[in-house]
Amino acid sequence: MKAFALLAPDSHAALVDLPDPALASDGVRIRVAAASINGFDVFEATANLVRMMEHRFPTVVGRDFSGVVDAVGEGWEDVEVGDEVFGFISSQPPLEVGTFAEIVSEGPRLVLAGKPPAVSFIEAAAIPLAGSTALDSVDAVHPGPGDSVLIVGATGGVGVFAVQLAAQRGATVIATAKTGDEEALVRSLGATDTVDYANADLVATIRERYPNGVDALIDFVNRGDAFGPVADLVHDGGRIATTLGAADVDALAARGVKATNVGGSPTHDKLAMLAEAVEAGTLTVPIQQTFAFDEVEDALAAFTAGTLGKIVLVI
Ligand SMILES: NC(=O)c1ccc[n+]([C@@H]2O[C@H](COP(=O)([O-])OP(=O)(O)OC[C@H]3O[C@@H](n4cnc5c(N)ncnc54)[C@H](OP(=O)(O)O)[C@@H]3O)[C@@H](O)[C@H]2O)c1
Repeated sequence: MKAFALLAPDSHAALVDLPDPALASDGVRIRVAAASINGFDVFEATANLVRMMEHRFPTVVGRDFSGVVDAVGEGWEDVEVGDEVFGFISSQPPLEVGTFAEIVSEGPRLVLAGKPPAVSFIEAAAIPLAGSTALDSVDAVHPGPGDSVLIVGATGGVGVFAVQLAAQRGATVIATAKTGDEEALVRSLGATDTVDYANADLVATIRERYPNGVDALIDFVNRGDAFGPVADLVHDGGRIATTLGAADVDALAARGVKATNVGGSPTHDKLAMLAEAVEAGTLTVPIQQTFAFDEVEDALAAFTAGTLGKIVLVI
């Protein structure tokens, strides 16, 4: 099979031919239709994770996928050959199996859900990590009607889901977005206020518009020294979620702020719920661009250059 894989610790990933993987006795084998790009994949492909996490070579890059079940091992009661599915391979080390490949075969690290017929393979492949991380982030700040929620990084793969999920719970969503296509997209997803972070000082702008502070912050961008001033925009007693491990939970608790460092964790139930929402038309999956599998390096470069929604590889 064709796969995008690291062959050794000191080289970047490349498109290579690998033997078709056998079905693990406790696994499922899937012919991959599409796979989406996440930040983790960029780090993995450029060998930046080699010193941090155990790898088994060849190490196939990629976590999200959609496809068709090809073979089923023991213990998978609800899965049959021919099922259209989508899912996620967790990054629990050792890293070895990935989804930027024509065939994926995995057991314990596989999170799987059925793909509703009305959801395309491309849409389904874009959902798992970004959609679950958005859901976990929104759940962490549990917005309700009338709450103001500032979402920083609202135009990215995770952000475009988070804007919708927070707005659907009745919150007033304030989204970072450059004027033009970015602003139009987040407003179409439910944001009612935007800040052009490229042309305005985010902290000063929010202070001026929300002098009493916002009720909640979901931050997909800031870490280190950049995080503190943004976190200070949340009034005492508010809520914060960050996907970058940026929150000092105890320090924020001292002023009554409930902060969560979110580790996005796709599960069958989250994927099923998100796919049902897409099928019902209550959740959209903004796709910035699709790339053919041969263009995988271009897809990673596009992700690094900047995102407006999800980038998907058609395998
Ligand atoms: N903890 C976890 O489990 C987990 C899971 C998934 C993702 N993550 C992390 O969560 C973050 C978001 O992931 P993602 O997939 O959504 O990434 P992404 O697609 O690259 O999105 C990031 C977005 O933030 C925008 N942005 C950049 N600088 C900004 C600024 N100063 N202010 C406001 N917006 C800014 C980017 O816009 P431009 O492209 O126009 O610059 C882009 O649209 C990443 O850091 C990722 O590593 C964590």
